[in-house]
Amino acid sequence: MAPMLLFFFLLFPPLSLQVHCQLTSSPSSVVPLAPALFVIGDSTVDCGTNNHLFTLARADRLPYGRDFDTRRPTGRFSNGRVVVDYLALRLKLPFVRPYLGLSGKVEELVRGVNYASAGAGALFASGSDLGMHISLTEQMQQVHDTYERLELSLGEAAAADLFAKSIFYISIGSNDFIHYYFRNTTNVRSLFLPWEFNQLLVDTIKHELKNLYNLNARKVVVMGLPPIGCTPHYLWEYDSVYGDCVEQINNMIVQLNFAMTYMVHKLNIELHGATFTFCDTFEGSMDIFRNRDRYGFVSTTDACCGLGKYGGMVMCLFPEMACKNATNHVWWDEFHPTEAVNLILADDVWSGKHIDMCLPMNLRDMIET
Ligand SMILES: *[C@@H]1O[C@H](CO)[C@@H](O)[C@H](O)[C@H]1NC(C)=O
Ligand SMILES: *[C@@H]1O[C@H](CO)[C@@H](O)[C@H](O)[C@H]1NC(C)=O
Repeated sequence: MAPMLLFFFLLFPPLSLQVHCQLTSSPSSVVPLAPALFVIGDSTVDCGTNNHLFTLARADRLPYGRDFDTRRPTGRFSNGRVVVDYLALRLKLPFVRPYLGLSGKVEELVRGVNYASAGAGALFASGSDLGMHISLTEQMQQVHDTYERLELSLGEAAAADLFAKSIFYISIGSNDFIHYYFRNTTNVRSLFLPWEFNQLLVDTIKHELKNLYNLNARKVVVMGLPPIGCTPHYLWEYDSVYGDCVEQINNMIVQLNFAMTYMVHKLNIELHGATFTFCDTFEGSMDIFRNRDRYGFVSTTDACCGLGKYGGMVMCLFPEMACKNATNHVWWDEFHPTEAVNLILADDVWSGKHIDMCLPMNLRDMIET
């Protein structure tokens, strides 16, 4: 097939392909607001990568996914959708599928790919206690491979154009704390003071953002870290009395997000023709905690699915551990929010619906640049 013809085929795939990606996707007459969505990260956005790996960090059994569109577990660490599902809908794109589940055909790549892997951190060592995962560096290698495959099929100019107009979304860093720094694995806390560790993370993420830019990515959403000190797991571990968040943990997260804001600000000055935006998940989450009544949440401390105080003692393992209705819960399991929270955060990323969370701009405005 001539490149032009092939490109046409990709823009208007035959019905069989569309049914496959259909789930919640829009009818073919709807024009997407960006050609594709590419997702890099950890369990906050893993959509099934780890189902292919030998690891404890898998969400491929009920009750995970019980409120998802298919009512089945998919590998998402939520009762339903995760943030990037809602963003795909806003962009009028199909849900993005995991790279490891793809056969490698180019038509599977052109609407976007999800590389995210639960347990992954920015640093290679993070999360290894859980088993296998695809680290940030390996995910970047997969993005690179994707680009090369697109280049081979579409030609250099079309591949470059596709990447330039697509949205890249990166959500990583929590496991560098949860499964590395806070555990003091390999004595890391004696080697790095908190601010030094934060700087190491920021430098690592900055390096990969530059690599994305070198692959012609021009629209990048960088997610900040959530309030890890408010997760049921740490409320349980630190024996929180009234459900108060663990300040010493959150302080480190706030400082990291501050450093990330500054790093992204500088990238926008250094790298021409690109927009990087930093979305402060911590602020977005705090807005939810502060206004829980308005959002309709009854519990902001207890995991819907878990055991022990705050449901934070173990991970969610089987349906009987879960509450009846997750809608009024902030937390789904010991570390991950419910679909209800993911929707609120997605709307904040998309348009600042509830709180202005993204600097210098939200995703909707980024599309128009
Ligand atoms: C981290 O571990 C090392 C040795 O295992 C120990 O000496 C150090 O006190 C620990 N640091 C913290 C903050 O727990
Ligand atoms: C959960 O509760 C919400 C309102 O609190 C209700 O709209 C919804 O239908 C309930 N879902 C289920 C599965 O019972």
